[in-house]
Amino acid sequence: MDDIVKITLSERDIPQRWYNILPDLPKPLPPPIHPGTGQPLGPQDLAPIFPMALIQQEMSPEPWIEIPDDIRRVLKLWRPSPLYRARELEKALKTPARIYYKNESFSPPGSHKPNTAVAQAYYNKKEGVARLATETGAGQWGSALSFGCQFFGLQCTVYMVRVSYEQKPYRKLLMQAWGAEVFPSPTDRTQSGKKIRAQDPNSPGSLGIAISEAVEDAATHEDTKYALGSVLNHVCLHQTVIGLELAEQLKIAGEKKPDYIFGCVGGGSNFSGAVFPFVKRKLKGEEIRLVACEPTACPTLTKGPYCYDFGDTAQMTPLLKMYTLGHTFVPAPIHAGGLRYHGDSPILSLLVAEKVIEARAFRQKPCFEAALTFARAEGFLPAPETSHAIRAAIDEALRAKESGKAPCIVIAYSGHGFFDLGAYEKYMTGQLEDLDFSQGELDRALKSIPKVPGGA
Ligand SMILES: Cc1ncc(COP(=O)(O)O)c(C=O)c1O
Repeated sequence: MDDIVKITLSERDIPQRWYNILPDLPKPLPPPIHPGTGQPLGPQDLAPIFPMALIQQEMSPEPWIEIPDDIRRVLKLWRPSPLYRARELEKALKTPARIYYKNESFSPPGSHKPNTAVAQAYYNKKEGVARLATETGAGQWGSALSFGCQFFGLQCTVYMVRVSYEQKPYRKLLMQAWGAEVFPSPTDRTQSGKKIRAQDPNSPGSLGIAISEAVEDAATHEDTKYALGSVLNHVCLHQTVIGLELAEQLKIAGEKKPDYIFGCVGGGSNFSGAVFPFVKRKLKGEEIRLVACEPTACPTLTKGPYCYDFGDTAQMTPLLKMYTLGHTFVPAPIHAGGLRYHGDSPILSLLVAEKVIEARAFRQKPCFEAALTFARAEGFLPAPETSHAIRAAIDEALRAKESGKAPCIVIAYSGHGFFDLGAYEKYMTGQLEDLDFSQGELDRALKSIPKVPGGA
């Protein structure tokens, strides 16, 4: 094991079951609330937009949920994903730390997102749905769902946040290659999109707005359901294949436990998937620091309150108890489009509130700097989202030089940056700005958070 670089598992080692953290949480998860009645949601309330199998997973008390063979068959295309020991990065940093990265960039669309896209397409197809509508920020989720739908013969409609649509034309083409239709959001196709465009014809869009459009599309078409790429319990559940494989791979590498796991957080799905199996161990007393990394331009976990809020701008979704910047918050157009979301996974939020998980925020320029340090040492070019986790890991590895400790550091490497070369060009030619959140915008958006009895 002395010089091992890549720790691979065989196809037989793809997890047979997803790990459902709900029964193991230190406190019960506050339920989603119906905005009209103020009462907890029942399965029937979600039936117009989700298939029943996913609604059941969303609320399941079972700690393990079987992965159907038809899903595992597709996951085999790129799973198990390799765990790398970042030996070249360690050398470049001259750190005593042992750095690993769990590389989710090998999936055909290039990120962790197909882990759930394939599962969601499968369950929708099984329940007779003809079309899925969704939003996408960076374009990774839209590509992943287009890919998943293609496999199971579903149509796919993607509302792509306008700023990303303009920054990343090739993501759009990739979605179209997999047969999807793609629109820059806000659009004139939905009432919620029209309303935003009437207020601000140049709106750069946001994930919150695009979600409103996709939910409205699903709710107004009988044959269509909605698919979300992050935030919800069933999405984080599907992503636990990452952490389950990671635990096996660390054992093979001879590591008793990771000291740190860093992952970037937009809505929280890749980070949750990587860390949930370790949360259980941490709650039993193992010292493992689980660090959620977010942009300073959209500092949900580090600056937002923990309270009930809508998941979308037009208030079409149920109320979820989560860290939130307010559902009308429109973050500055940073290049990590997938991290521009006002809220976060309710499970992840609860674990942050309970101090099981910690959060740190980073500016985009130091993240691009870290991404290039990584690419020049390891060869892989990370997505701008992923670069937040890399920044945090490099900072920790540099601190280890001072402390004299040799921690085991794991990066949840969520995706590649091949469609983000425009952003890299801006960084390398000195044109990239360090965008922060605006206090005025945050104060305004915080006021949009509804008052829910007992919700704060
Ligand atoms: C490569 C990559 N990483 C991370 C994210 C953030 O999503 P999540 O927090 O759900 O993992 C995205 C979202 O689009 C992404 O494309």
